[in-house]
Amino acid sequence: MKANRIYNFNPGPAALPLPVLEEIQESFLNFGGSGMSVIEISHRSREFDDIINDAVARTRRLLKLNDDWQVLFIQGGASTQFCMIPINLLGDGDTADYVDTGTWSTKAIKEARILNKVIRVPASSEDRNYCYIPRAVEFNHEAVYTHITSNNTIKGTQWAEFPDTGGVPLVADMSSDIMSRPMDMDKFGLVYAGAQKNIGPAGVCLVIIRKDMLDRVPGHIPAMLKYTTFAAKNSLYNTPPGFAIYTVQLVLKWIEETIGGLEKMDVVNRRKAALLYDFFDGSDFYRGTADADSRSVMNVTFRLPDENLEVMFVKQALESGLGGLKGHRSVGGCRASIYNPTPIEAVEALIDFMKTFEKQTG
Ligand SMILES: Cc1ncc(COP(=O)(O)O)c(C=O)c1O
Repeated sequence: MKANRIYNFNPGPAALPLPVLEEIQESFLNFGGSGMSVIEISHRSREFDDIINDAVARTRRLLKLNDDWQVLFIQGGASTQFCMIPINLLGDGDTADYVDTGTWSTKAIKEARILNKVIRVPASSEDRNYCYIPRAVEFNHEAVYTHITSNNTIKGTQWAEFPDTGGVPLVADMSSDIMSRPMDMDKFGLVYAGAQKNIGPAGVCLVIIRKDMLDRVPGHIPAMLKYTTFAAKNSLYNTPPGFAIYTVQLVLKWIEETIGGLEKMDVVNRRKAALLYDFFDGSDFYRGTADADSRSVMNVTFRLPDENLEVMFVKQALESGLGGLKGHRSVGGCRASIYNPTPIEAVEALIDFMKTFEKQTG
């Protein structure tokens, strides 16, 4: 661990790769010899064109996207996508399926309903406080899309495999597992992700949309809520969040060039998660909360024998240089978010701390 830095297990905004932070620091005052900071350059400059084009190119390479796809950067976080998706894709007489796997899916459903769109919820894991991913779902084959949340940041569950919808395109909120593993994009019509967990800072949402979905976008909606506005202008219709996009570009470069791509990223991520889950499985003191077949590789949720111990655990962990371990206020308990940038050493340090804590208090 570098001086003054803790191991950061925050759920988002979250840890960023140290080499990325160092590169930002190094070039902060004079970006690429321009004599300006990257946050001072014009979004109409050649320098910024290079940044955004490289971020798009890296996204395309990492996810093996062909020309059928458009890569967009949009402000408003993933939450704005909850309304943009139905506004852009669901016309009169259209319907969509939404699987409810917890807080963020529930919000996406609520937003579509506020807009009076016709949507159906073919499956939900609410009956057991969202501790699992529903299986054997009967999807509507007439739906325009099926919405899922690929990783449930708060509940600590994840779709290990994507469901078979009978050819209906999946629309997926991948805010907390984008670029964490390779994926077959053939099943998808649109993927979106707030950057602030796996690929950058808050302030920008990566939206990857299949071009034929753009044909569904109605003409009479406000420019800033319309995918075609962003698609027509390479996400430069108005002033983009340049610093956030620049950081995303650097994180994607780190995934490609330092880690070696998504297959390798996946191996590292699985190793980190396995260390924690194996540890819980052998413990009578720590207990994972998600069903074994639905466990998230990104957000590991767990409980201790009682709430007082959990408060002590989070406090003492921070004093030992391990931050961000408190569970979401809606579920309590503890959570270790171990996104792409979290090094394996952080997980090892956490397990060492857990063993010591159990010895002292258990
Ligand atoms: C899966 C998921 N979707 C959506 C959001 C909301 O993202 P934003 O804050 O960018 O709107 C989050 C935030 O934690 C999330 O984890």
